[in-house]
Amino acid sequence: MQIIRELTALKPAVAGLRGSGDTLALVPTMGALHDGHLALVAEARAHADHVAATIFVNPLQFNDPKDLARYPRTEEADLAKLEAAGCDLVWMPTPDQLYPPGFATSISMRGVSDRWEGEHRPGHFDGVATVVAKLLLAVRPTHAIFGEKDWQQLAVIRRVESDLGIGVTILGHPTVREADGLAMSSRNALLSADHRGQALALSRALNEAATEIAAGRPIAAALERATAALRAGGFSGVDYIALVDADSLEPLESAREPMRLLAAASLGGVRLIDNIPVTLE
Ligand code: PAJ
Repeated sequence: MQIIRELTALKPAVAGLRGSGDTLALVPTMGALHDGHLALVAEARAHADHVAATIFVNPLQFNDPKDLARYPRTEEADLAKLEAAGCDLVWMPTPDQLYPPGFATSISMRGVSDRWEGEHRPGHFDGVATVVAKLLLAVRPTHAIFGEKDWQQLAVIRRVESDLGIGVTILGHPTVREADGLAMSSRNALLSADHRGQALALSRALNEAATEIAAGRPIAAALERATAALRAGGFSGVDYIALVDADSLEPLESAREPMRLLAAASLGGVRLIDNIPVTLE
């Protein structure tokens, strides 16, 4: 596995891999890798001849400087995991390589980015859109893989790719979960043992609401019960729990496929997000 830090070394390394028209799938990450990330690498291997990953904790997408400062960084373990998963190349740029002095151009999103995470984390999706566009333009892969764990992010990235005509096939991969149902996340490492136990209330509340909605029961009541269940389960703040159109991310007043239940809530100062599909019975 080639480990690249300098932008200047990236181009020849990618050219070497691509050779005479081989395909290359990119898995962008912020490190602190878990089995969810590694499932994306496995998916990438199934779609392309070679796999590249990036590790970059992107300052532009952190609306809260404290969140950026405490984001887990586990470089050595990450590299070992990527190598074992069959990754061919890892690019770990420093902030000044992606955002050189005088950097003044960024992507401004609207539409799919407006609500939910966009509303609660101002500027977050502009930061995601800008860094993902930069990573795709620097690596120029044929495919790029993102997790459904961040459903709205996936919608944003699909939009950026098609709006800017970047020419990369964007693939989504289902959320990988712990045995008790908690969606894997680098942020789970920040939970105390007690809060880790309580965290499964999030996926449980989503599943219960999905079952009710799938059975045709009133949506507002199902969402209210889910919110109450989160509070009773120890979550201090519930930013949103919503039934949305899976593509436009607009809220739904009546059940209509394709739809998705999205939620964001905080436990012991750690903000967790999750989402699941809802299909009518
Ligand atoms: P990060 O949170 O490190 O996630 C990297 C990729 O892994 C994203 O596509 C994310 O959706 C996916 N992922 C995380 N947890 C997952 C899980 N439990 N199951 C499946 N996939 C999962 O998302 C980012 O980084 C950044 O915003 C990034 C896209 C790299 C831009 O900076």
